[in-house]
Amino acid sequence: MQTLTNKLQLARKKTDEAFLNAFADLVLKNNEIEEAATYSFVGGGKALRPFLVFTVSDLLGLNQQSATQIALAIEMVHTYSLIHDDLPAMDNDTLRRGKATCHIQFSEATAILTGDALLTKAFEILADEKTHPDATIRCQLISLLAKNAGINGMIGGQLLDLSSEKNPLCEDEIYLMQKLKTGALLRFSCIAPAIAAQSSKIVIQQLEKYAELIGILFQITDDILDAVGDEMIVGKTLQKDKKSNKSNFVTIYGKEKAQLLANKIHTNAISLLNESSLDNDGVLKNLTDFILTREY
Ligand code: IPE
Ligand code: IPE
Ligand code: MG
Ligand code: MG
Ligand code: MG
Repeated sequence: MQTLTNKLQLARKKTDEAFLNAFADLVLKNNEIEEAATYSFVGGGKALRPFLVFTVSDLLGLNQQSATQIALAIEMVHTYSLIHDDLPAMDNDTLRRGKATCHIQFSEATAILTGDALLTKAFEILADEKTHPDATIRCQLISLLAKNAGINGMIGGQLLDLSSEKNPLCEDEIYLMQKLKTGALLRFSCIAPAIAAQSSKIVIQQLEKYAELIGILFQITDDILDAVGDEMIVGKTLQKDKKSNKSNFVTIYGKEKAQLLANKIHTNAISLLNESSLDNDGVLKNLTDFILTREY
C-alpha cells in the first residue's frame, strides 16, 4: 500500500503536469510571469488541496480529467494566495517552499502579476469543457471557487489576519479567521468534486463539516510550526507571528493550549469520518493524522 507521502507526491506530480500543459499556449513566449508562476508552482508544496480533490473524486467516482482540472484550479489559487501573502505589504517573507519567495526571486511587480495570472487562469480552467461536459455544473464550480477565494472566503480571512496585527482578535474571531483564510480553500477542495460528481446533499454536508474541521486544525498546526518548527523542514520563515503581533491560538493562548485544541479538533474530525461514509480505505483518516502531527 502506498504511504500518504507517496500519495501526496503523486498528487503533486499530476497537478504539476497539468499546470505545464495549461501554460503551454501563451501568446508571449518565455515571459517572466510564466517563469515566476512555474518557479512558485511546480515541485513545491505538499499538494494537500489537490490530494483532497483526488481522494474525494476517487471516493465519489469522479473521472480523472475532471478531478485534475479541479485540482489544478485550486492549487493555482492557493499558490497565488501564498505569493501575495509573502509580499512586503502583507507578511513580508523571504522564504517559501524551501526557496526565495516570488518577489525576492523576481520583483514585487512580477509577484503581483504572477498571483493575478494564477487566480484568473484558475477560472479559465474551471470554465473549460474538460472540467465537466455540463455548463451548469461548470458554473457552479466557478461560483464555488469565487465564493471561497473571495471576500467571504480566503480574502476575508487574510483581512482579519492583517487587521489582528493592530487590533487583537477574540476567540470567536480567530475561529472565523481560520475558517476563512485556510478553511475556505480546503472547503472548495472537498466539495468541488462532489458537485462535479452530482453527489447527494448529505455527502456534501458531511464533506463541508470535515473541511471546516481540518481547516481549523491545519491552521493551528501551521501556527504551532511557526512557533516551534524547524525552518529547514518547514521551508518558510518561522517565528514570525509573535513578532508581527498576529492573533492566533498560539500567540493568544500559548502552544500547549493550542496543541490541546488541535487534539480535540482532530478527534472530532476522526469521529466524523467514522460516523459517515466519507472515508476511502482510511485515506482521509491518515490525512487527518498527518495534519495533526506534521512537521512541514
Ligand atoms: C500554507 O499552506 C498556508 C496556509 C494555509 C497555512 P500549505 O502548508 O498547504 O503550503 P504548501 O502548499 O505546502 O506550500
Ligand atoms: C496564510 O496564512 C494563509 C493564506 C491564505 C495564504 P499564513 O500567513 O500563516 O501562511 P504562511 O505561514 O505564510 O504559509
Ligand atoms: Mg499571512
Ligand atoms: Mg504568511
Ligand atoms: Mg503561518
